[in-house]
Amino acid sequence: MKQKKSHKLLIGNILFVIVCAGILVFLLNAPEETTSPLPHDDIHSSLHNIEGKKEAEKYCLNCHDADKKAPLPDGHPPKYRCLFCHKRL
Ligand code: HEC
Ligand code: HEC
Repeated sequence: MKQKKSHKLLIGNILFVIVCAGILVFLLNAPEETTSPLPHDDIHSSLHNIEGKKEAEKYCLNCHDADKKAPLPDGHPPKYRCLFCHKRL
C-alpha cells in the first residue's frame, strides 16, 4: 500500500517536470521582439535619463503627434504608453 503511493508520487513528479519543460520550450520559441526601441541619439538621449516611463512619455508627442515633425506612421497601434512597446534599452 505504502509503496503504491510513492509510485504515484513519482509519476506525478515526472509529469510535473515534463509540463514545466514544455512551457519553457514554448516561451523560448516566442518570436523575437521587433518593435524599435527608443533610439540612442541626440534627440532622444535626455529621455533615457528621465526616471519613470510615464514622466518620459509626456514628451514623445511634442514631436511625434500627427502635426509635428516626426508623426507616427499610418496604422500605428494605439499610442498610449509609448515606452511599453518602444523600450528604453
Ligand atoms: C524633440 C523631438 C522628439 C521627441 C521629444 C521624441 N522624439 Fe522620437 N524621434 C524624433 C525624430 C525627429 C525621429 C526621426 C529621426 C530619428 O530616428 O532620430 C524620431 C524617431 C523615433 C523612433 C524611430 C526610431 C527608429 O528606429 O526608426 C522611435 C521609436 C521614437 N522616436 C520614439 C520616441 C519616444 C517613445 C519618445 C518619448 C519617450 C520620443 N520618441 C520623443 C523626435 C523626437
Ligand atoms: C502597442 C505598442 C506600441 C505603442 C504603445 C506605441 N508604439 Fe510606436 N510603433 C509600434 C509598432 C509595432 C510600430 C511599427 C514599426 C515597428 O515594428 O517598429 C511602431 C512605429 C513607431 C514609429 C515609426 C518608426 C518605427 O520604428 O517604425 C515611431 C516614431 C513610433 N512608433 C513612436 C511611438 C510613440 C511616440 C509612441 C507613444 C505616443 C508609440 N510609438 C507608442 C508599437 C507601439
